[in-house]
Amino acid sequence: MEQNQQEIKAERKKRLFSGIQPTGTLTLGNYIGALRNFKILEDEYDCLFSVVDMHALTVRQNPTELRQNCLKLLSLYLAVGLDPEKSLIYFQSHVSGHAELGWILDCFTYMGELQRMTQFKDKSAKHADNINAGLFTYPSLMAADILLYQTDVVPVGEDQKQHLELARNLAQRFNNAYGDTFVVPEGYIPKVGARIRSLQDPERKMSKSDPEDTYIAILDEPNVIRKKLRRAQTDSGNSIVYDTENKPGISNLMSILSAITGESMDAIGAQYDGKGYGVFKDAVADAVIAELEPIQKRYKEIVSDKAYLNQVMTTNAERARALSQKTLLKVRRKVGLAALKL
Ligand code: AMP
Ligand code: TRP
Repeated sequence: MEQNQQEIKAERKKRLFSGIQPTGTLTLGNYIGALRNFKILEDEYDCLFSVVDMHALTVRQNPTELRQNCLKLLSLYLAVGLDPEKSLIYFQSHVSGHAELGWILDCFTYMGELQRMTQFKDKSAKHADNINAGLFTYPSLMAADILLYQTDVVPVGEDQKQHLELARNLAQRFNNAYGDTFVVPEGYIPKVGARIRSLQDPERKMSKSDPEDTYIAILDEPNVIRKKLRRAQTDSGNSIVYDTENKPGISNLMSILSAITGESMDAIGAQYDGKGYGVFKDAVADAVIAELEPIQKRYKEIVSDKAYLNQVMTTNAERARALSQKTLLKVRRKVGLAALKL
């Protein structure tokens, strides 16, 4: 029996969890830092991809828009080719275990840990009129998302490193107090493209909450993509060299190209150096457009197929809920919440 279980364990694929907030236009940064890797990793891992709609509530949302954005994000997950039969693709709010475990983890998270979070500092500066408790405890809910499914690997962009570290700390803290309960997750942060930068201010990350001309949206039309890239801020030189200190604009464009084509920075430099920034920018535009066009085409088909979206949403929520129960029962028992004997 024991032997058998060990064999089953050895055969089990490692589990992967990631989530994206359904808050407006997704950018090329989201795509390169996160979504694209989801597709690459889907075969190797047992995956859950969540539309983290409860996280979106930390900033005031228009309800109709939020509902639409959730369906749009679900459509985008499917358009990049994620398979809802294989992976679990679902809305966070459809599995109440996230909130439940979130609360329990809140009780294991220190104020000081949350106060240090840079995303909290940034967002509270940006939304000074609504610094709510959810915004503050957001990282404990994110930890719950991850730990609820005994996740091994979490693919995210660099901006989520601090949150991930908290999830690891909480898992260890809980395990130390109650014995092995949670898998301690590892981050999967891409080597190239973990932090795509603004096209107009390469000191900042590319973000959907900045002005239009600073980001490329995954759903931007090809001519818009080309125009934005042509106008991207660069230096006054003419060399195509990866040097984030002195040439942040060019380096950012090189990261975009390298992440998409898989070519090294040196190879890109050798190919475009001396040809002028215009030629290089057009090459980046060609690569981005070629990458995004098929996704955009599939997206348009999927987003209008309400019956299909509904079916994916419902069946996947059910599967995720069943999976979440295992961890929840264990956690409840460990912390001393009485079991209901029905
Ligand atoms: P969010 O839109 O904040 O929910 O982010 C979704 C995912 O995209 C997270 O894994 C982020 O780390 C990633 N991401 C967001 N912006 C960027 C960027 N500029 N470069 C790379 N990854 C990013
Ligand atoms: N906080 C993440 C972001 O803003 C989104 C997120 C929520 C997430 N829960 C998660 C990412 C769990 C990975 C795993 O991008």
